Amino acid sequence: RTVYVDGQFVPETEAKISIFDRSFLFADGVYEVTSVLDGKLIDFKGHMTRLQRSLSELKFEFKPDMDQLLEAHRELVKLNNITEGLIYLQVSRGSAGDRDFAIDPKTPATIVMFTQSKSLIKSALAERGQKIVTFPDIRWRRSDIKTTQLLYASLLKTEAASKGADDAWMLLDGFITEGSSNNAYIVTKDNTIVTRELSTDILHGITRASVLKCAEELQLKVEERHFTLEEAQNAKEAFSTSASAFVCPVAEIDGKKIGDGVPGPIAKRLREIYIDANR
Ligand code: PDD
Repeated sequence: RTVYVDGQFVPETEAKISIFDRSFLFADGVYEVTSVLDGKLIDFKGHMTRLQRSLSELKFEFKPDMDQLLEAHRELVKLNNITEGLIYLQVSRGSAGDRDFAIDPKTPATIVMFTQSKSLIKSALAERGQKIVTFPDIRWRRSDIKTTQLLYASLLKTEAASKGADDAWMLLDGFITEGSSNNAYIVTKDNTIVTRELSTDILHGITRASVLKCAEELQLKVEERHFTLEEAQNAKEAFSTSASAFVCPVAEIDGKKIGDGVPGPIAKRLREIYIDANR
């Protein structure tokens, strides 16, 4: 694979960053994952707007050049022949030459990018529906910033897999916040789509924004509010959204079947509509 490091396209085996890079020592970095369908970038603008917001919330002085980032994304897709897959972009606070908790505002940013070829449209998981297990949400209280501090999400995914599940949803004060790397939704008995409102408790998903727009176009009711685990377990349907899995139906939460325990019609329809709108 060819990867991108600070303006250069290099073979992955030759890519180098400093061991003093603050992303490595302090998880002082933010990232975006953009999907590619038919060689085209999905929701690129939305991802870059969120990247700028993450950087500014963490007081980065660095302002990325959006035209350059777009060019680099396109070039990497071409160089690696990606028709379907993901592009990972990370901006970290770089290295000030030594380990120091306090941030030197003059630290130059490090930008890295790589591609992952992945079948997104055809998904066995979306066809059978995810098994979800819940865990407490003990992340820092700024889950709206897309930082590279992903240890808890990694531990949860691993723990979920060891319990025979596909993913973890997190609970804060009795309410679902989001999935380990996706936003969480339920569909109520009267066909209303419910998802937690935007706040510092969840990532403001780019796929979430697009899918809620699709839902409105289908004239489905949407409520942005808290929902409990119990409400989720008794819902007609449940699903998640992310750039890496689009709309992905849920079949089971903490051992309780959702609806008939298979992907529901609204989740399936939203998945189709979202994919059609982006190709
Ligand atoms: N994750 N919530 C969390 C905690 C996430 O990490 C993600 C994305 C989302 C969905 O956001 P979006 O629709 O913009 O992808 C919600 C990416 C895909 C990842 O970490 O790989």
